[in-house]
Amino acid sequence: MIDARLEPDVVSQEAHTLPERKQSLGADPDVLSGPTAPEVVQVTDDERDHIARAAGLLSQRYGSIDSPEFRRMLPALAGQHLPQRLYMLLADFRDAFQRTDYGALILKKMLNVDQDSLGPTPARWQEAELEKIKPYEFITALIHGALGGTLAQFYYQRKGGGFSHCVIQDPAMKETETGAGEVELRPHTESANLHHSPDFITFLWLRNIERVPCYLFSIRSLDLAEKRYEKILREPIFKKPLVADNLASEAQQWADQAVPVLYGNPLHPWLRVDFIEQLSSGADQSQRAQQALEAFEQDARAATYTALVPGGGDLCVLNNKMCAHGRGPVQAGVDSNANAVEKRWMLRMMSVVDRFAFYETAHSRHPYFSKEMHTGKTVELQEITLP
Ligand SMILES: [Fe+2]
Repeated sequence: MIDARLEPDVVSQEAHTLPERKQSLGADPDVLSGPTAPEVVQVTDDERDHIARAAGLLSQRYGSIDSPEFRRMLPALAGQHLPQRLYMLLADFRDAFQRTDYGALILKKMLNVDQDSLGPTPARWQEAELEKIKPYEFITALIHGALGGTLAQFYYQRKGGGFSHCVIQDPAMKETETGAGEVELRPHTESANLHHSPDFITFLWLRNIERVPCYLFSIRSLDLAEKRYEKILREPIFKKPLVADNLASEAQQWADQAVPVLYGNPLHPWLRVDFIEQLSSGADQSQRAQQALEAFEQDARAATYTALVPGGGDLCVLNNKMCAHGRGPVQAGVDSNANAVEKRWMLRMMSVVDRFAFYETAHSRHPYFSKEMHTGKTVELQEITLP
């Protein structure tokens, strides 16, 4: 039997309000001015039962989220099968981009994860038995349906790799600052090098017995009007070298393409940043870009929310254009008392809302498959096998 005793079941209660947060950071009080923590919603027993029944029904009817019929019906199914309170919360969240909106929503205990039938965490994502996680995929897909998006795959990430990705620490990547590594993963926009990166991402923790904190950094936590670097971050001068990416060799030819960090609405901009790669030694930023990024990172560090320690069944919904994400360091498969435990296992899913923009770099026969590798540049794909 898998020991889930160390599964955290609550979000750390520390420093949720702005004054508390400023105090706990010991930061310059002027650094933080907007919302500093995601909204946390406790899912009720009734809602959880409702969701579990829906997962069973949809698994039976459609078999897999790859079913074209399921994806065609997804918006309607979300309205039909999600508890009304959660559906309404998500409907509000999809349009929440203003000054007081954070860009992340945590649904605590969205579902019960049957740890025994899930079995041991695979050694790496390539070895996961996807059959076991199908009900969890249906539930997560409904969330994206409620957000008004369509599930998407990106060649840039795992060469597509399906509409949901298992995220698991891989011993061979231990030293890398990537999702599969063990060192601290600093906040980043998912696929920050793409013009058409995912609009929404979900993370569903199947287990996190090592108690690895999730990091969130919302661009709305900073009062940008006060910042000297704000105007510079809007200039298209920031390069992303792709040093840590699996497909680096294929994309390296475009690594000198430069983009802005802030873009879109003048008052409430979108964020596109990856401190890991953009501040790496190989980034070769101009002095102006480097200095602005360093100053921005310093403020972002102070504003990063680190109090969230997710447990199995918790789900984070993220607006990928407002809120960057990362996680604390992890010693995979070992708890704080040096006991062996099951490794962390997370399920990631991505969707796009702006389909017409997404089609610019999509595969002609698979409209929800992005061929983009860097700043609008695409790879040539002769044929791909998709359901
Ligand atoms: Fe990520």
